[in-house]
Amino acid sequence: MAVLLITHDLNMVRKIASTVQIMHRGRIVEQGPTETVMNSPRDPYTIKLLESVPKGEAGAKEERPVMLEVRDLKCHFPIKAGFLKRTVGTIKAVDGVDLTVREGTTYGIVGESGSGKTTLGMCILRLTGCRGDIVYQGRDLLACSNREMRPLRKELQVVFQDPFSSLSPRLTIEQIIAEGLQVHGIGGSRAERRKIVEETLVEVGLDPAMADRYPHEFSGGQRQRIAIGRAVALRPKLVVLDEPTSALDMTVQAQIIALLKRLQESHRMTYLFISHDLRTVRALADEIAVMQNGRIVEAGPARQLFTSPQHPYTKTLFAAAFDLTVAG
Ligand SMILES: Nc1ncnc2c1ncn2[C@@H]1O[C@H](COP(=O)(O)OP(=O)(O)OP(=O)(O)O)[C@@H](O)[C@H]1O
Ligand SMILES: [Mg+2]
Repeated sequence: MAVLLITHDLNMVRKIASTVQIMHRGRIVEQGPTETVMNSPRDPYTIKLLESVPKGEAGAKEERPVMLEVRDLKCHFPIKAGFLKRTVGTIKAVDGVDLTVREGTTYGIVGESGSGKTTLGMCILRLTGCRGDIVYQGRDLLACSNREMRPLRKELQVVFQDPFSSLSPRLTIEQIIAEGLQVHGIGGSRAERRKIVEETLVEVGLDPAMADRYPHEFSGGQRQRIAIGRAVALRPKLVVLDEPTSALDMTVQAQIIALLKRLQESHRMTYLFISHDLRTVRALADEIAVMQNGRIVEAGPARQLFTSPQHPYTKTLFAAAFDLTVAG
């Protein structure tokens, strides 16, 4: 069979394709054998595209105070079957997870599809039921009543993977960002909130005049900036980023990562960064946990994990991402 592979994943192209064509704005800007195009690109767009592959490592951070401590977290879903919907088993989506996240750092969670990453994030935000201990800034979140949770909701924010479904199509950008401000009593009047919305748009690299437009008028990257703005406008302390760049192409991914880094520095936010893309994780995370079947199989400082992974699963995962051959 001949395969025509259409993707924004350059790493995949490198691995699979014998020849490649690079498209930009409806035209083929460069083509040739994959090796040649990847190693000595000539077209300016191809060069930019290749440079956009997330690179580098997050800088080491000194011992900062602990912000979030998770102990023996479990989230099991019942499997129901048959006419009477009897429980016939359980899916152990999260099955005894421990992690410690320090203030102002990024904790990366990687693992294959279905390993429990999203469920773990939802448990920490208390958006799904679970057992165990989640201690956030000294408070046991699982012991908090809904009323006690309310003020904490502002501090704990989330950005989802798909910017196409995470923004309500019926609300303007102003309404989308202002909704959270209003719920949490930030900005006394509509005019004040409008001002915050405009400042937020500037902060995430958008034109403040965009506030009156609707989500469908924006590209994926712009929508993700809006979703990030919606979270950041509340001045959260901990943000769960669930695959925030995986729906975007490489150049846009690099911009979003740069934006996240800049926002983290200016607001001292802590990130829980969920991704299956090890390159993006390496670019952002200070510490990394590798999940498989609801458990963390290996965790530690990013540098250490990338230079000497110990667990066989981590080794295969890294080998697949960075084209290394695994020994043993
Ligand atoms: N509400 C639910 N009810 C039943 N099972 C669920 C529910 N949510 C998740 N699961 C199951 O829990 C497991 C973990 O799912 P989760 O979405 O956390 O994985 P993930 O690591 O985020 O995967 P992906 O990389 O594809 O996003 C899967 O087997 C999934 O089918
Ligand atoms: Mg997920």
